[in-house]
Amino acid sequence: MTDHDQTHTAPTSSAPAAESASASSKATDRNLGFGVDIGGSGIKGAVVDLDTGELVTERFKILTPKPSTPGAVADVVRQLMEMADWDGSVGITVPAVVKNQVARSAANIDKSWIDTDLQELFRRHLGERDIAVLNDADAAGIAEVQLGDPRAKQGSVMMLTFGTGIGSAMLNDGHLFPNSELGHLHYSKKGDVEWYASSAAKDREELSYKEWAARVDEVLHMYGELFSPQIYIVGGGISRKAEKWVPRLTVEQEVIPAKLRNQAGIIGAALAVRDGVKP
Ligand code: BGC
Repeated sequence: MTDHDQTHTAPTSSAPAAESASASSKATDRNLGFGVDIGGSGIKGAVVDLDTGELVTERFKILTPKPSTPGAVADVVRQLMEMADWDGSVGITVPAVVKNQVARSAANIDKSWIDTDLQELFRRHLGERDIAVLNDADAAGIAEVQLGDPRAKQGSVMMLTFGTGIGSAMLNDGHLFPNSELGHLHYSKKGDVEWYASSAAKDREELSYKEWAARVDEVLHMYGELFSPQIYIVGGGISRKAEKWVPRLTVEQEVIPAKLRNQAGIIGAALAVRDGVKP
């Protein structure tokens, strides 16, 4: 799986790369989908092989517009589809609670997302097609269950994504309990868990891996007391450096770095629209 991070800051109207054109569903009999992961800093999309989780195009990325209003972000999703030469169904993650395809929160994204009808929004910008919108961590959990470590579908598993925020996916025997939002558990007078232990907190406070891992460890102990998961799966960009912090964790549970790394959101989004997962 490729994991480069080529960022496109401006829309391109030029022809997409040859590799993406040849990967389009028209040119292959592979079972393909398209996933988009909307984050606080970047919006990433790629064509995904739904049988293997492999990204068959480059991972296209455009910086999240400021302000990150629904219309501006939906237009970036349209640009990503153009860049990948994709014209099929689309799965999209948002860093928000999604209920009946309506956004019900907005933590690291413009507040105007709250109460946005996501189907209406994306249809308006992307045209009539099959679209599924779901929480980003839930998408990552779905991807790890289907295409990640086999332990992801055994028993009670808590998937956590560390990035601008902390996302959570609660899984039991591979079944998702959606919208768990454990990054927003109250932590101290100063803020919630995500304020304390996201990878953005590490950057903001210039913490070493050792210092940051101690915070993550505290948080995992707390989640352990509350939910007693059998396994933690840790994802997000910082899971690429798992060897620097996962061995420092002292929880009794096994902590497994996400097999799909930071691509789990994109892959899970593409799987969700194929499977009709529309929370
Ligand atoms: C949001 C979640 C999201 C997580 C990771 C949190 O701030 O509330 O919905 O899953 O960040 O992006």
